[in-house]
Amino acid sequence: MKPSMILIMERAASMFLLFTILNFHKIYAAEFGSISGSMFLTEGDTLVSMTGVFELGIFKPEGSENRYLGIWYKKIAPQTVVWVANRNRPLPGASPLVLRVSDPGSLVLFNSQSMIWSSNTTLTSSNATAKLYDNGNLVLLDQQEKVIWQSFDYLTDTLLPGMKLGKDFVRGIEWHLSSWKSNQDPAPGAFTWGANTSVYPENKLRQGAMVTFRGGPWSNERFTGVSVFSTVLTFTYDVVVTEREVSFSYNLENRSSLLSRVTLNSSGDFISWAWVEESKKWQTVLSLPRDICDTYNICSAYGKCNVDLTQQSCTCLDEKRFVPRSKRDWGMANWSGGCVRRTPLDCKIGSEGFIKYSNVKLPDTQNTWYNTSMTLKECETKCLKDCTCMAYANTNVRGEGTVCLIWLSDLIDIRVFPEGSGGRDIYVRMASSELGKEKKGAPIKIILPLIFLGLLLLGVSITWFWCARRKRKYADDMAEEGKSLNVSKGQEEAMELPIFSFSTIEEATSNFSPENKIGEGGFGVVYKGRLEEGKEIAVKRLSRYSNQGVDEFKNEVICISKLQHRNLVKLLGCCIQGDEKLLIYEYMPNKSLDAFIFDKTQSMILDWTKRFNIIKGIARGLLYLHQDSRLRIIHRDLKASNVLLDEDLNPKISDFGIARSFGGNETQANTERVVGTYGYMSPEYALDGIFSTKSDVFSFGVLVLEIVSGKRNRGFVQPGSDNNLIGHTWSLYSEGRSMELIDSNIAESCRSSEVLRSIELGLLCVQQNAVDRPSISNVILMLSGEGPLPQPKQPVFFMDKEFLVADFSSGTYTGGSVNGITITEVVAR
Ligand SMILES: *[C@@H]1O[C@H](CO)[C@@H](O)[C@H](O)[C@H]1NC(C)=O
Ligand SMILES: *[C@@H]1O[C@H](CO)[C@@H](O)[C@H](O)[C@H]1NC(C)=O
Ligand SMILES: *[C@@H]1O[C@H](CO)[C@@H](O)[C@H](O)[C@H]1NC(C)=O
Repeated sequence: MKPSMILIMERAASMFLLFTILNFHKIYAAEFGSISGSMFLTEGDTLVSMTGVFELGIFKPEGSENRYLGIWYKKIAPQTVVWVANRNRPLPGASPLVLRVSDPGSLVLFNSQSMIWSSNTTLTSSNATAKLYDNGNLVLLDQQEKVIWQSFDYLTDTLLPGMKLGKDFVRGIEWHLSSWKSNQDPAPGAFTWGANTSVYPENKLRQGAMVTFRGGPWSNERFTGVSVFSTVLTFTYDVVVTEREVSFSYNLENRSSLLSRVTLNSSGDFISWAWVEESKKWQTVLSLPRDICDTYNICSAYGKCNVDLTQQSCTCLDEKRFVPRSKRDWGMANWSGGCVRRTPLDCKIGSEGFIKYSNVKLPDTQNTWYNTSMTLKECETKCLKDCTCMAYANTNVRGEGTVCLIWLSDLIDIRVFPEGSGGRDIYVRMASSELGKEKKGAPIKIILPLIFLGLLLLGVSITWFWCARRKRKYADDMAEEGKSLNVSKGQEEAMELPIFSFSTIEEATSNFSPENKIGEGGFGVVYKGRLEEGKEIAVKRLSRYSNQGVDEFKNEVICISKLQHRNLVKLLGCCIQGDEKLLIYEYMPNKSLDAFIFDKTQSMILDWTKRFNIIKGIARGLLYLHQDSRLRIIHRDLKASNVLLDEDLNPKISDFGIARSFGGNETQANTERVVGTYGYMSPEYALDGIFSTKSDVFSFGVLVLEIVSGKRNRGFVQPGSDNNLIGHTWSLYSEGRSMELIDSNIAESCRSSEVLRSIELGLLCVQQNAVDRPSISNVILMLSGEGPLPQPKQPVFFMDKEFLVADFSSGTYTGGSVNGITITEVVAR
């Protein structure tokens, strides 16, 4: 076919003839790796990038008859589309489609009647070439190989490494993601993800015009420690803030070993994915929004959101210097009024200063000013001079220099992160009278209500034994009085908690002899012991690495000792000597639940009725921890081996409060603590270190499925499938074969209505999004109720071998290793 022939046939009138000829002389554009001149691409043809990663062609979304021009991964099934050209102009029917480079230098898609889509570019000389690059960018080049058009400038719902968000002021191009209408319809849907580039930029998730989530001000960052199998990957963010361009993009160093993409789906979830070659699956790395605190502006001005406070998500930024605008509303969890400074600002020169708050998600930048070449000191001075300036911060976290960012109105949408997980420092303007006050704990401390009440000093010869007891009603007094304790009250209180002498315990456990060792957990070894009077005890010898102070330890022990419920193991007392910190529990003659359900012979002892009782008992124990106790404990390590059975096989949760009390710094580098267990950790906890009552609910869900099936979630093997137990349960459930999950040992004793209910409940509890999971009080209602349960969503956190493991730093976690993907953060907040 001669090029000249094609040229003649550009007009719609000639199109029919064109196709007749083309069908006779079909040229496979793919063979050329690019399209130019007389070449074209029609249905069934594809253009493949150089190393064969991406492919361009005509596709139909699953479940739709419409055809689109798009780009997808060549080697990945099912087809994963990353870009769509004619998303606004679907093409139903079967009329042939042709893509070609036409004069004057534009890339055009036609059908037999008309032009469907065009790059709308013009070029003085002819001879443009379209190429698909290996990063997924479809470009149109002029004869000098200069890019005249590129698909990376017209984002759809997918952000690939190297694609930009933001704005090119010179060309007037704005880059943002917009969701598909639905899985079948690539037309722009309700959600967008992009930045306001007129102020200091940050990505915002919007539903229509309404902001629903905010990513946090942009900063150049680098996240290492991301490994897939044995490969360590590094994610980097590139931020450009200049007069010509404001942009944000992410990249993977050594990206050849990993395919990564970020999508905004039609329900408004912003999800980061990694392709795991071994299992041939896309694995979710991070999904936003994660939890209630990601709800935009939930706590209003100067409120801060914290997922660790299980009841009240919002508190004032600092409880000494700020007060709720309306105490009454605030108490009723209506946070719309926000907080105000206790002492208002008067803006007298020299009379004001700043208080630094760490580990926060910086407030909304909607009303800000910035300068990329000021020192922090200059930034402070600048802020002080301006009476509307409420705070300043440095957003540059890497490399040279400072980016001075100044807030010119009240600070909104602040949340607190655990230390080391991406929070920043902000300096908030305060009246001088507020500056002297001791700040009420760093944010990480505020997470664990810092209250402590009394201490008791017992001198036994050279050794000191400490223990104390506290009461919440004194908390407020304490806050006012600082650290001056009312010792006499404290002493009275303290007497209620038995204190064991170290020698007593040494004797009871035959000097911690190995024969008496009955278990080992994340926080230490457990020994069986027998007191002189014959009473049996279990002694937990806490590992010595805990750098928690003696006072803090005592306070926590007192907290735990107050928790009394028949489904919790009872704490009898404590003992402290030097480095040694011991907890003394009641002894449970029967072993832990895992010794029963996962053991072929032992599992016969637990018939269905007993198992159902155990499920209900665990739920009640958890309810007590989450809601009824005064402390609102999140267990964080609920698993079969932490559920002990008493002589009547009633379940008792153990190790509660331990994680809260002794695992506090798990996000810090160099920690050796194992907090949470492979197979039981919820995605948000495993990935972001974010825990809430809903992460316990997740673990509970796993436990329920394990109790029903008699199989471990971790290490679950199903011939011909790499599902873990959750995935397997889901498959059975979705095929209406849930009853096949049941442990064969108890198949006869079971009541199918209860079994099915438990399975469905288990699936509800392990849903990916914490907000979808029921609260434990709902779990209890569902367990005892009769009515139908809500439909669980498909769990995403499927794989076992490829389980994503949070490596908050290093060594936190021993389970992941070679077969685990270890991921820190991928998306800035
Ligand atoms: C090209 O121009 C048409 C008509 O102005 C417009 O509808 C279409 O969206 C443009 N295409 C691109 C890729 O900008
Ligand atoms: C990937 O990059 C990291 C950090 O630069 C490096 O340590 C690692 O060896 C690289 N891996 C491969 C497979 O190139
Ligand atoms: C930013 O600060 C630097 C140093 O103080 C100053 O020279 C520069 O003019 C400032 N830029 C703007 C836009 O204010």
